[in-house]
Amino acid sequence: MIEKRIAEILRSGEPDETVKVQGWVRTKRELKGFAFIEVNDGSSMASLQVVITEDVAGYEEFIKKANTGASVEFEGVLVASQGKGQRIEVKAISIKVYGESDPETYPLQKKRHSFEFLRDIGHLRSRTNSFGAVFRVRNACATAIHEFFQQRGFLWVHTPIITASDCEGAGEMFSVTGFDLNNIPRTKENTIDYSKDFFGKPTYLTVSGQLEAEVMAMAFSNVYTFAPTFRAENSNTSRHLAEFWMVEPEMAFCDLKEDMDLAEAFLQHIFKYVMEKCPEDMEFFRDRIDKTVLETAENIINNQFERITYTEAVKLLEKAIEKGNVKFEYPVSWGTDLQSEHERYLCEKLFNKPTIVTNYPAQIKAFYMRLDDDEKTVSAMDILAPKIGEIIGGSQREERLDVLQRRLLAQGMKEEDLWWYLDLRRFGTVPHAGFGLGFERLVQFMTGMGNIRDVIPFPRTPQSAEF
Ligand code: 4AD
Ligand code: MG
Repeated sequence: MIEKRIAEILRSGEPDETVKVQGWVRTKRELKGFAFIEVNDGSSMASLQVVITEDVAGYEEFIKKANTGASVEFEGVLVASQGKGQRIEVKAISIKVYGESDPETYPLQKKRHSFEFLRDIGHLRSRTNSFGAVFRVRNACATAIHEFFQQRGFLWVHTPIITASDCEGAGEMFSVTGFDLNNIPRTKENTIDYSKDFFGKPTYLTVSGQLEAEVMAMAFSNVYTFAPTFRAENSNTSRHLAEFWMVEPEMAFCDLKEDMDLAEAFLQHIFKYVMEKCPEDMEFFRDRIDKTVLETAENIINNQFERITYTEAVKLLEKAIEKGNVKFEYPVSWGTDLQSEHERYLCEKLFNKPTIVTNYPAQIKAFYMRLDDDEKTVSAMDILAPKIGEIIGGSQREERLDVLQRRLLAQGMKEEDLWWYLDLRRFGTVPHAGFGLGFERLVQFMTGMGNIRDVIPFPRTPQSAEF
């Protein structure tokens, strides 16, 4: 007998095959002389139906204990299913309960629960259909990402979580003291002595692996990171987490146009992969979460993204305001950053597809972005996705030492803190570019899930870090 996951049994199991099934009870129905159990092991949306007749050893005891949420094991024979919607079911030969689940206190009931309620029982919510689908799709997205880069010869590089540099220069870093909690150094005044910090200088949780990815790209040409990043911004929105995963490719001998082309092909690849690997989960999202998800996926796969400059975007927004087509909370003017309401108007109302905005004003973007010839804008690009807003942020990097030094100083940063980064421009510098994809925002975009807290198993936000 081969042990198979339920997804495989449902897909390819044949009558008369003997199987062993392990999982958690979703429903139990008792009839006269027999019972039906729906069991789920997380491998698919659908549960497997098991029929148990009263002649099976331990029947009475089992039926008493096998309530919703209990962990169970069956050995049995596959038979063609009489019920509709299911090709095959199991006729049990032997049955076992591993762990009971008290129906009076088990928080997951047969009815549909709200996502707010499920957030409070984060340790159990993965057992629901919605979160099963989300986390299977999340896994497929991650696999698609590695497949895309590995097929193209990119090296997956591992960049540090603890770092001394603020890549984005936005001051949104969580500090890491490195203190031994049993032996915190004190000053004469008995306050904490930060100068005796384990690292001897302030260290932080990384906001981005980009600077280190640039180091690696200057040796391996094409690399990518896929790792947790941290932002200490107190943004309580449905698009922000304090801890999120980022994918950051970095390519040597690459300009902004090639960077955008890669980002577009990258998103198309992920959508195609997920549509192929998780059709049932995607249909579930269409039926239960957002009826447009399949259309959106098809559009992404088959159409080019819109590309406009920041300057054009500002003109379009100003025109829309002037005509009275739209009212924004925040004003729009050249030189200020686009707010999410502006971004969403562009990609949802004007173009209704992912929109790449390029060449932002230098003063609102990070120090490492390449200064354009007009000296006013930088070779930056943001990809805006309908319903999400910014999903990717990237740029061509400043490869000229003197310009980089100038930009760094202008942003109040010190050369000595980034001496190693400047060295990359001293020794064998090349035009290079890259971008960062917010992984949770991608999963939101893919599934239509409204809140970013519901696409990561253990969300960290200003309000919650339960365990
Ligand atoms: O635009 P960001 O800040 O860009 C960077 O960090 C660059 N160093 C990337 C690079 O060029 N290698 O962040 C990149 C993406 C955003 O577009 C967004 O999708 C996501 O990361 N992101 C967040 N996702 C969830 N919660 C947050 N607080 C996020 N902040 C950024
Ligand atoms: Mg950004």
